[in-house]
Amino acid sequence: MADPINILVTGGQGQIGQALAKVRWAPGVNLLRPTRAELDLTDPEALNACFERQPFHAVINAAAFTAVDLAETHVGDAMLSNALVPARLADLTRRADIPLVHISTDFVFDGESDHPYAEHDPANPINVYGASKRAGELAVLSGHPRGVVVRTAWVVSARGRNFARKILEAAAHQDVLSVVADTIGSPTSADDLARALETVTTAMISDPSAPTGVYHCVNAGQASWAELATELVGLAGLATTVVAIPAAQYPSSARRPRNSRLSCGRLYSDHGVTMRDWRTALADVVSEIERERLRS
Ligand SMILES: NC(=O)c1ccc[n+]([C@@H]2O[C@H](COP(=O)([O-])OP(=O)(O)OC[C@H]3O[C@@H](n4cnc5c(N)ncnc54)[C@H](OP(=O)(O)O)[C@@H]3O)[C@@H](O)[C@H]2O)c1
Repeated sequence: MADPINILVTGGQGQIGQALAKVRWAPGVNLLRPTRAELDLTDPEALNACFERQPFHAVINAAAFTAVDLAETHVGDAMLSNALVPARLADLTRRADIPLVHISTDFVFDGESDHPYAEHDPANPINVYGASKRAGELAVLSGHPRGVVVRTAWVVSARGRNFARKILEAAAHQDVLSVVADTIGSPTSADDLARALETVTTAMISDPSAPTGVYHCVNAGQASWAELATELVGLAGLATTVVAIPAAQYPSSARRPRNSRLSCGRLYSDHGVTMRDWRTALADVVSEIERERLRS
């Protein structure tokens, strides 16, 4: 039997990490998804020891300090997890000569553009989280010739903390929900993203000269948060009314880009990956949330 192909998924217990575990990987692929208690990524010795203990064939970094508002007051913590840890991972994977697939975000853009952002558009983060993630991107791209950055946005799934679960929980108890309408993005199923990550990672493992750089990966189409909430409520068959409000009426510590749309051209041209429409993907997410609800 062929040797197993070991892939370390950091942040593997998070929303996207769990989606990666659901993907049907090629036979022999073994995903290692240590918890934070098993591997604290901010501990350089633990990280070094993890790489010395076991040879990996690739690393997918799905770990991050993802609390966008909290990052405004926890700048050091955000920079540590989102910039310094990716830099260390880039160094370790470069030395092991294995690919690093690093997940990043639409929040590296300022949202002032009126078109979907392409991979080559200039980054200009407008909050601490975005700045820390941009620093992580640069560390990966400059630190490892086999480093890839995959930016995504507005991720929803039946697992973890996300907008879909939050809205459906609120809608189960409230007749009216006020949701921001002047911020638009590309809602993305964590499962669809995970399948694309599998394609990119597999290509990078099998071909050392596979293309590198930045990829965007979101479901096709666009929505405002209010439109996304309306679709969620409708798919779940709830009677809750979604009232559209301006972002100014929903104050938060961190500024958010008003346009978070991403175009995924490189994913298709390099890997043949097309992303389906967000509404179709969302229907699957809501069905799974409903199945989980009935099971619990
Ligand atoms: N969710 C979105 O809408 C979205 C949008 C754009 C980009 N992204 C990017 O996607 C990636 C994953 O997001 P997600 O939604 O899966 O986030 P998540 O559910 O918050 O998962 C992040 C995971 O990282 C782990 N982690 C953080 N710091 C760690 C550390 N020092 N040591 C070990 N583990 C650590 C967390 O562990 P704990 O649970 O113990 O904290 C958690 O399991 C991130 O890079 C994020 O920037 C997400």
